[in-house]
Amino acid sequence: MRKKLIAANWKMYKTPSEAVSFAESFLPLVKDHRRDEIVLCPPFPALTAVAGALRGSHVKLGAQDMHWEKEGAFTGEVSAHMLAAAGCTHVIIGHSERRQFFGETDETVHLKLLATLHASLTPIVCVGEFLAQRQAGETEAVLHQQISGAFHGVPHDLASHITIAYEPVWAIGTGNTATPEIACACHRCIRMDIAKIFGASAASRTRILYGGSVKPENAKALLSQEEIDGALVGGASLDPKSFSAIVHY
Ligand code: PGA
Repeated sequence: MRKKLIAANWKMYKTPSEAVSFAESFLPLVKDHRRDEIVLCPPFPALTAVAGALRGSHVKLGAQDMHWEKEGAFTGEVSAHMLAAAGCTHVIIGHSERRQFFGETDETVHLKLLATLHASLTPIVCVGEFLAQRQAGETEAVLHQQISGAFHGVPHDLASHITIAYEPVWAIGTGNTATPEIACACHRCIRMDIAKIFGASAASRTRILYGGSVKPENAKALLSQEEIDGALVGGASLDPKSFSAIVHY
């Protein structure tokens, strides 16, 4: 059985004090919740403050991106090693907003993935197709390209540390959630690709989350599917009550 992981991707929302007050309201709501792993991914300036607020709890901390080098003259970047030192256990990589607006490619996702694994962080690697690609019947090919582009050359013993998030771009921030059937079909296709690269046993241990307009109203239909190993939640994770309703689906 794969333990489900429910992660909040706050994107460019919340100052450090807003992030801490979220944590203070949210923690009591999930105090006894051990069924699923819970991760909050605030923006960089709030990481240390949220790490402090989460100390002693079972809720984990993640970042939204990173650079693959350990350190160097890379203005504006942060490394996996710095994120781990700030208290992160997880990091989102290859989010479609990074791919669309900030030049992220399968190759940079690959480099970041290797760096996270060497820093013992759990990567949440995002893949997903645009609406036009889905309409053109290219979804499987797009997922295959993103998976093979990111995962080639990853040591097999590290494979089961990887978490994947299937996030169809047409569902992100649009209110148009993928149906459980669409999500499950894509999750199966991703798991088959992982099995081809790392073998069936690693593939059966790899968690594949769904992301794209997950809300309290649709969380149960999605998360009760065996193929869906959790959720990456944007908009509906900004409010403690709404995110906790998703966690308690
Ligand atoms: P959304 O975002 O839940 O607001 O659609 C999900 C994501 O971008 O990870």
